[in-house]
Amino acid sequence: MGIQQRLGNLWFWFGSQGYEYVDLGRFWQILLFIGLVLWLVMMWASLKPALMRKSEDRSLLILFLISSIAIPLFYSAGLMYGQRSHLVTAEYWRWWVVHLWVEGFFEVFATVVIGFLFTRLKLIEIRTATRAALFSTAIFLSGGIIGTFHHLYFAGATPAVIALGAIFSAFEVVPLTLVGFEAWENLRLAEPTKKSPWIANYKWPIYFFVAVAFWNLVGAGLFGFLINPPIALYYVQGLNLTPVHGHTALFGVYGMLGLGLTLFCLRALKPGHRWKEGPLKLSFWSLNVGLSLMVLLSMLPVGLLQAWASIERGTWYARSAEFLQTPLMQTLRWLRFPGDILFAVGAAFFAWFVLGLLTGHSYEKESAAGQD
Ligand code: HEM
Ligand SMILES: [Fe+2]
Repeated sequence: MGIQQRLGNLWFWFGSQGYEYVDLGRFWQILLFIGLVLWLVMMWASLKPALMRKSEDRSLLILFLISSIAIPLFYSAGLMYGQRSHLVTAEYWRWWVVHLWVEGFFEVFATVVIGFLFTRLKLIEIRTATRAALFSTAIFLSGGIIGTFHHLYFAGATPAVIALGAIFSAFEVVPLTLVGFEAWENLRLAEPTKKSPWIANYKWPIYFFVAVAFWNLVGAGLFGFLINPPIALYYVQGLNLTPVHGHTALFGVYGMLGLGLTLFCLRALKPGHRWKEGPLKLSFWSLNVGLSLMVLLSMLPVGLLQAWASIERGTWYARSAEFLQTPLMQTLRWLRFPGDILFAVGAAFFAWFVLGLLTGHSYEKESAAGQD
């Protein structure tokens, strides 16, 4: 209704703000912020007893708490501009939310939460997890915070800011290489699922965490870095290579993380019952292969052709109807079909499985007699 001009001046409060990723109207944005604070209170309530105990995993827990505080705190940066702020000001704060969340605090949150769960499963030692988490946090935050400027090249930034953004976001290749090692490590950790039966219960949550590490390397690392150097951004900012990176990084990392954490909690709720894993397996592979196909068959070729067009003739041409409406482009866009459908099938299987935990059809028959 806001976009259709039906809300009068209230569009900013109740309609769409029009800024990508912070497009919620201000009223809804404030409600979301309150929700995040409530989430933090819940986290605090369950973390507090563990923190008081002064146990070995305390440093990891403190890190976890800090990253949990940073999540609502940095969302509040999205409230820093008003209806009549200059576009440059609004863009500046918007990237505080988008970039600092995904490349800073969520990365820390993901590292810590996965490290923590793996120590609980006794797959790694607390010392190792703490050291890895502290190390990658230091690097993520040092590169990530100033690296925010890599989004501001076309938003009125001065040369000094552009230089800082370029240098520090280039440093991000360091944590991402480490993430690569971590992916390998996680895969190795997933091995024992074949041997020890109680770990086998956690096989699918662990697989989703392995997918997180994989997409972190490919989506954030490879495709993020592809568009990251200033010269690349100069030509391809906002063309289709951006969604190549955006989809693989955002769903690949945080989508998979969300699903993994959901499964982990569902598993821990009823440890005694054996899961019927068929739908989960189908879901896992459809989501991952679907995501790969949507990018490889469609977005990446479109993005590369656009990059070529932009370098040869200019961004205006790469975005023009003349270039985008050719039969080749039309075909490439339709090639989103196979991947997207497979991805949706994966989501449906996941929902079917979770529903089955309620109705009982996701449990093996012989384990149904409660042994919790
Ligand atoms: C898991 C971590 C990450 C996630 C979830 C993520 C997500 C995103 C998303 C959704 C966008 C599109 C924003 C928009 O157009 O409004 C974006 C843009 C961008 N990302 Fe990332 N990203 C991550 C990590 C990285 C890393 C590590 C790098 C650098 C190596 C990077 C470099 C970029 C650049 C340069 C853009 C701007 C592209 C443009 O404006 O055309 N990202 N990212
Ligand atoms: Fe960024």
